[in-house]
Amino acid sequence: MLARPMDWQPLYDAALEARRRAYAPYSRFRVGAALLLADGTIASGCNVENRSYGLAICAERNAVAHAVARGQRDFRAIAVVTDVSPPAVPCGMCLETLTEFAPDLPILVANLDGERRQLTLRQLHPMPFVWPQDEDPA
Ligand code: THU
Repeated sequence: MLARPMDWQPLYDAALEARRRAYAPYSRFRVGAALLLADGTIASGCNVENRSYGLAICAERNAVAHAVARGQRDFRAIAVVTDVSPPAVPCGMCLETLTEFAPDLPILVANLDGERRQLTLRQLHPMPFVWPQDEDPA
């Protein structure tokens, strides 16, 4: 049986809504992310900047923290919304963070003008960091 194609719209909508709550007074670059979790719910995040610029939290890692704090570590997909063309892909730190939980995660990057691109985490980050001593993190 063929798997049903993914309906990205609810995830896009959640990322768009999260983006509206972005706190980005320094870069003015607002990002929203939404993770689809194994239980069918969504955990979203926006970027949160700080006057000490290096402390900025990316939307994607904010969404991961949100999910994990809810006890959900099984991620099925992520949508990321920005207002640039082509739509921005997650930064390296966010790719590594996502890889910890779901190395083959499907990713939708989208903007406000309807441009959308579907990728996989494996495509964007094919060789994640491996810590040989840590076979089974608790
Ligand atoms: N940002 C994200 O939210 N996600 C990324 O993957 C890259 C960058 C944010 C951080 C900062 O608030 C702004 O975008 C500009 O770098």
